[in-house]
Amino acid sequence: MNSLPSPHVTPLRGGPILRWGVLAPGAIAQDFVSTMHRNTDQRVHAVASRSTERAAAFAATHGIPRSYGSYDQLVADPDIDVVYVAAPHSEHRALALLAIAAGKHVLIEKPIALNAAEAIEIADAARSAGVFAMEAMWTRYLPQSDVVAQLLHDGTLGDIKLVAVNLGWQFPYDPTSRGFDPALGGGAMLDAGVYSLWFSQFVLGAPSRVVASGILAPTGVDAQAIATLGFDNAAQSTITTSFLISTPGGASIHGTDASIRYDADFVFPAPFVLSSKAGDLTWRDESGLTGRDGLAWEAVALAQLVSDGRTESPVHSLDDSISLMRTIDEVRSQLGAR
Ligand SMILES: NC(=O)c1ccc[n+]([C@@H]2O[C@H](COP(=O)([O-])OP(=O)(O)OC[C@H]3O[C@@H](n4cnc5c(N)ncnc54)[C@H](OP(=O)(O)O)[C@@H]3O)[C@@H](O)[C@H]2O)c1
Repeated sequence: MNSLPSPHVTPLRGGPILRWGVLAPGAIAQDFVSTMHRNTDQRVHAVASRSTERAAAFAATHGIPRSYGSYDQLVADPDIDVVYVAAPHSEHRALALLAIAAGKHVLIEKPIALNAAEAIEIADAARSAGVFAMEAMWTRYLPQSDVVAQLLHDGTLGDIKLVAVNLGWQFPYDPTSRGFDPALGGGAMLDAGVYSLWFSQFVLGAPSRVVASGILAPTGVDAQAIATLGFDNAAQSTITTSFLISTPGGASIHGTDASIRYDADFVFPAPFVLSSKAGDLTWRDESGLTGRDGLAWEAVALAQLVSDGRTESPVHSLDDSISLMRTIDEVRSQLGAR
C-alpha cells in the first residue's frame, strides 16, 4: 500500500440542519455546543437546566433563543427536533426515555446508560417510538476512525490477533463527584473505560471471554481496571483504564500483515501509523478540528442520518451500545465495583 484511503465523513457544513435541545448544561454540553455553533450549521434552539438561572446563563453565552428551568419543558417544545442528553451517567436512562416519550430524536452522552438492562430499555423505547437514538460515541465519527474502518474492511492488516488500548484520565478524588459517587455512576470503566472497550469492539466485536482485575476507590467504584478480552476467532485485546493516573491514550491493532498504532489520544482527532513490511504510512487529521472540537463530526453525522430517515447509526448502533454495556457489566462485576 502506497497511500492511505481518504476519509468518508459527513461534511461539516451544507447538509440538513436540525434544531437541537440541550438537557443539562454542564462541562460537556459547553464544549459540544461551542464546536457545533462554531464549526457546523447545526443550531441549538433551546437549553434546559434544573435551574432557570443556569439555563438562562448558558443560553446567553451561546446565543440560544430559548431556555427552560426544567427538562420536561424542553422536551415539550414542538420546535425541537433532537435532544442532547448531557447529564451524568446516572440520569441518561430517565432523560433519554423522557425525550423519546415526547417523540424527539435523541443523542445520549457516553456511556449510553449505567448497565445493559438500562441500554435495552432505551433501545426498546426508541424503536417503538420510531425515533432516532444514538450513544454519543463521538470518536467513531472522527475522520481517522473512518480511515481505520476502511483498512479493517479491506483486510489490509491480515488476521487481527491483538488490540491493545490504554486510557487513564486522572480524576481528583472527591466522593461526591460524578467520577467517584456510585449514585452518579462513578468509576473509571463507565467513563474513560467505555472508550477503551469501544475501540476493541470496533475492531473485534463483542468478546466471548472477559478476565478483569482492578483497584476500587473508597466509595466502592472502580478507580482502575485492566481487562483481557478473548474472541472466538482466537484474537485478544487488553484494555487498561484509570482515574488514578493519566496515560497517553495509546491504541494499537496488530494483524499478521500490518499494524495500526495511535501513540496518544486516540479518543480525540489524532494521527496514527500504519506499519507493514512496505514501511510506515502516517495518517494526519487535516480538518483543523482538534481536541473536543471534534465533537462537531458526530453532530453533522446525526443530522444527516435523521434526514435520511434512519433511526440508528449504521456505525454505532443501539445493539453496539448494548453490547458495550454488557462487557462493562462483566468487568465491573468481576471487580466487585459498586
Ligand atoms: N464526549 C465527551 O468527550 C465527554 C466528555 C466529558 C463528559 N462526557 C459525558 O457527559 C456526561 C456529563 O459529564 P459532565 O462532565 O459534563 O458532567 P457535569 O458537568 O458534572 O454535569 C452535567 C450537568 O448535569 C446536570 N445534572 C442533572 N442531574 C444531575 C445530578 N444528579 N447531579 C449532577 N448534575 C446533574 C447538571 O446541570 P443542571 O443541574 O444545570 O441541569 C450538570 O451541570 C457524562 O455522562 C460523561 O460521561 C462526555
